Amino acid sequence: MFGHLTAMPSDPILGLLTSYRNDNNPNKVDLGVGVYKDELGHTAVLNCVKKAELHRNNTEDSKVYIGPTGSPLFNTEMTKLIFGAEHKVLLENRTRTISTPGGTCALRVAADFIQTCKTGATIWVSNPTWANHTGLFEGAGLQVKVYPYYDYENKTLDFDGMLNALKAVSRDDVVLLHACCHNPSGMDLTNEQWQQVVEVTKDVGFTPLIDMAYQGFGAGLNEDAYGLRLMADAVQEMIVCSSCSKNFGLYRERIGACTVIAQTSSAADISLSVLLHGVRIIYSMPPAHGAAIVETILSSDELRNEWYDELKIMRDRINGNRQVLVDKLIENGVTRDFSFIARQSGMFSFLGITPEQVQQLQDEFSVYMVGSSRMSIAGIAQSNVDYLAKAIAKVL
Ligand code: LMR
Repeated sequence: MFGHLTAMPSDPILGLLTSYRNDNNPNKVDLGVGVYKDELGHTAVLNCVKKAELHRNNTEDSKVYIGPTGSPLFNTEMTKLIFGAEHKVLLENRTRTISTPGGTCALRVAADFIQTCKTGATIWVSNPTWANHTGLFEGAGLQVKVYPYYDYENKTLDFDGMLNALKAVSRDDVVLLHACCHNPSGMDLTNEQWQQVVEVTKDVGFTPLIDMAYQGFGAGLNEDAYGLRLMADAVQEMIVCSSCSKNFGLYRERIGACTVIAQTSSAADISLSVLLHGVRIIYSMPPAHGAAIVETILSSDELRNEWYDELKIMRDRINGNRQVLVDKLIENGVTRDFSFIARQSGMFSFLGITPEQVQQLQDEFSVYMVGSSRMSIAGIAQSNVDYLAKAIAKVL
């Protein structure tokens, strides 16, 4: 039965984890997987997380099944974090949130939900988008189409192209939008552009699916949710997939959430039952640990404030790294204009070099980034930026 199988290529993003870990070069630089690193290249456990874990250790009294929705307190706190406690959709009781194993399972559950709504529905994703989006949606039976987004030539947003494409989609389609910190381009919509996208969404009537994996890594928790909240205000139905991997640093705990907004509260109950049917046949129920940490932090004034501070430190370091790299490239004699890196947002930017140059950076300098030249800006540090800029200068 297995004899005719051919090996699959390694994942374009996660495959870099192994190559980087196996590289013995003491100067190696990891700009691969989207993971926050401090100045020492370490992904530490946040202090607020440590405290929440201690609390959990002292108070957890059962390991009984948590159930397919996950923890109700986590779901409530996440819904408030995403939309803001006073948002219309909460007051109207039109949201239903479930805990999921990471943002990836939130997306998969959402995809199955869409498939139940309309078999083989079309979902539009930005060009480019997170490398896993397409496989994930196709795996659920959806048809994936792309709308223009990043202008590779001018290192900016092809907003006219995007808007024109969205005006032409069918009202039965779903459109995936990145809430903030666009992965992989770092190119976000301005608030004014979000307003236009929301108008088109209302006019055309398609269903928005908003992926928010980096809330708090762009400009701030509320600022990063601006477009999502505006959209939720304007439409009757919408799906949000969110993740606690990055902003709580809970990567391996696999905790995220899927939220459905329906037209009415009773329609939301029906949507929830459909979501839960999907959950039961894929993974039955989510793990409990990550959700317990997040709900403990979000429901405690002290821990929540500590989290805000730690999140700000991560955000400021990444944003600062952008200018540091641009300056170092200039200092090392690079004449090509890389100033766009400092204007982009979140964890990623495309360097804009060829796959061959990316490979050369890896082979000759042990600098790791995705083949598309997507860099995880969090991997830059004072200690490696000069080496990195020199390496880039060489391959250019
Ligand atoms: C990334 O894009 O690097 C992260 O979201 C990790 C992943 O699962 O791909």
